[in-house]
Amino acid sequence: LAAMAGGRPLQGRHVLVTSGPTHEPIDPVRYIANRSSGAQGTAIAAALRDLGANVTFITGPATMPPPAGVTVIAVETAAQMMTAVTAALPADAAVMAAAVADWHVANAGAQKMKKDGSGRAPALDFAENPDILATVSRAADRPRLVVGFAAETENVIDHASAKRLRKGCDWILANDVSPATGIMGGSENAVTLITADGAEDWPRMGKAEVARRLAARIAEALT
Ligand code: CTP
Ligand code: CA
Repeated sequence: LAAMAGGRPLQGRHVLVTSGPTHEPIDPVRYIANRSSGAQGTAIAAALRDLGANVTFITGPATMPPPAGVTVIAVETAAQMMTAVTAALPADAAVMAAAVADWHVANAGAQKMKKDGSGRAPALDFAENPDILATVSRAADRPRLVVGFAAETENVIDHASAKRLRKGCDWILANDVSPATGIMGGSENAVTLITADGAEDWPRMGKAEVARRLAARIAEALT
């Protein structure tokens, strides 16, 4: 198929990719965040670009630079990521690779929190962040193909399959992010692609290779 389309089967297609962590402020100088280098999302954006797609890359504060040749929208918080994603629709496909913080600090301070000398720590109130993947999956202008990730540390396939149904996306790439796997922050990934047809284990491979394989599958699905 790629050969028939001259190696650019996604030419003229618009694909959204979210990537990186989000930072949720505690006060002007502190934040909470998910662990994410942005490596897998960055590789996916590059692979989609290489197949000819117009890629909108919506990224939290990642440790690695965004790929060249894509439209980069840099955000900090989950709320900002949500706004940027919905503003970037419509798209033919969306891949949500960001490690979005599940909560933000509801009582974040407008000024730096100071120690009060009592030795007691401040109490933070958390509020749930909007689910970007679920929102896009149910949007009126939903992309034809919506792909999410499921970062799990146990019962990976069960949890990820349930997540696919709950969020209403088409595919989930499930990965085991237990510290022992070394996947978080590493250059390799071991994923299982979960679709309506079942679960397909991919061998452990470089994140760039996972990205190329996913991009090829997306091209096939959109053809
Ligand atoms: N995701 C999102 N918006 C959120 C939380 C997650 O878009 N507020 C997306 C992620 O980018 C990923 C997918 O949802 O593609 C699954 O993220 P994950 O953290 O594994 O799932 P959650 O639904 O947040 O469930 P939990 O963390 O409780 O396991
Ligand atoms: Ca989560």
